[in-house]
Amino acid sequence: MANVTFSGPTLPKDITVYAIAGDNGTLLAVAKKNDIPIPFQCQDGECGSCLVKVTVLGNKTPNAVSMAEKEKVTLSVNGKLDKQTLHKMETYDVPSPFRLACQFIVRDEDILVEFSGEPGVEIDLRRA
Ligand code: FES
Repeated sequence: MANVTFSGPTLPKDITVYAIAGDNGTLLAVAKKNDIPIPFQCQDGECGSCLVKVTVLGNKTPNAVSMAEKEKVTLSVNGKLDKQTLHKMETYDVPSPFRLACQFIVRDEDILVEFSGEPGVEIDLRRA
């Protein structure tokens, strides 16, 4: 069970939904179910259009990182996962900030999901 907060310029305000870990499948499925307009195309981890920034909230130690090879390749090709971040993730379970919503499985941790609203474009964290 997790609170998932979506934030992006295409939303009038941040929206927090309650997700049952594992029950709704992917983060993209949770977004679609709640009418959150995260862009997507392939829904198979290959196009990169569902790029989101995920931050684990709270004081709990983040769960071990689980990322399929396909997601690693797509994020790397799109410049959102460098070798250093990949090494930290695989060696020390330090989460990559960028994920693909269609591949990310919601687990028992509260998260902030930021998205730009443009396919494959990272959120501009400098926005007001
Ligand atoms: S929709 Fe294509 S990678 Fe997620």
